[in-house]
Amino acid sequence: FLFLLNPVCCILQQLYCTISDSCNCDFKPNIQDLEWDLYKNLYGQHLVQDIVSEEVAKFLQNKNPDRPLVLSFHGPSGTGKTLVSQMLGNHLYGSAMSSPHVHQFVPTLHFPSTDRVKEYKEDLKSWVQGNLTKCARSIFFFDEMEKMPPGLIDVLEPFLGPSHVMFGTNYRKAIYVFIGTTGEEVITRVALENRQAGRDREEIKLDDLQESLLQTLYNNSTSGFYKSRILQEKLITSVVPFLPLCRRHVERCVRSQLCSEDMCSRSDVVEAVGDAVIYTPAQGRFFSTTGCKAVAAKINLAL
Ligand SMILES: Nc1ncnc2c1ncn2[C@@H]1O[C@H](COP(=O)(O)OP(=O)(O)O)[C@@H](O)[C@H]1O
Ligand SMILES: [Mg+2]
Repeated sequence: FLFLLNPVCCILQQLYCTISDSCNCDFKPNIQDLEWDLYKNLYGQHLVQDIVSEEVAKFLQNKNPDRPLVLSFHGPSGTGKTLVSQMLGNHLYGSAMSSPHVHQFVPTLHFPSTDRVKEYKEDLKSWVQGNLTKCARSIFFFDEMEKMPPGLIDVLEPFLGPSHVMFGTNYRKAIYVFIGTTGEEVITRVALENRQAGRDREEIKLDDLQESLLQTLYNNSTSGFYKSRILQEKLITSVVPFLPLCRRHVERCVRSQLCSEDMCSRSDVVEAVGDAVIYTPAQGRFFSTTGCKAVAAKINLAL
């Protein structure tokens, strides 16, 4: 009986969503849990914690947003970009990252060949459109933006702005998250200068980074946003800079991993992994070159 009922339910629900534009699908946001997770489990990223909690809360408080929420994550590898994407999925949707309304694009997987951009443009556009028709509260993640064929992302421009409700679909309730390493040099330089000036990491402000990040995105042919209309039209709600991690952050990653395996007391392993990581620049050795990436493998070596 349930087997029969289920598809009927879905079709009716979909119809309802399309007509009423108020469908919540699998959307069960819990902002408090999101904030808690960000503050407790993301290390060394005060800008990310503040920007993500604030922008998501602001966006969801507004029952009738005039444009979608568009975030662009930037920073070196292993600093928590994927981790924060997962936190968003986990705290916004009932079935977390496996929700049918959480969409992930990886260029090397979905758009592998640069001479098929025209075809990809059509695909991407109708795909986003189709999914927003099913559920206005969809979230789209675009990872590895630096490998996105130039020009492709611009097909999203009409969806990202304050467009009118088209074909019964409200495009303004969606969330888009772009993720890439473009701008890591800018971020690392600012973090380094801050450090060399003897200031606290937490004193770094979004204003110190925002303009140079947007410039770099616009001028860099492999940023995914090269000369993009999306930037010209200022359709990104906020850039989100991930800072390079220091040894103390890497050690927190190690400790948390150890504790989850009931080995909280193994400070020797924390120390050994901290030693095994490579830090830059040669003068000062402030930042882990791999962030917290591959910490689990390094733990296994040290055990
Ligand atoms: N700032 C951080 N705080 C806590 N854990 C982190 C942080 N950065 C990375 N990690 C951990 O390190 C691993 C790699 O992080 P990930 O989010 O995949 O990095 P990337 O920025 O390259 O997407 C994951 O297991 C993640 O949980
Ligand atoms: Mg990642």
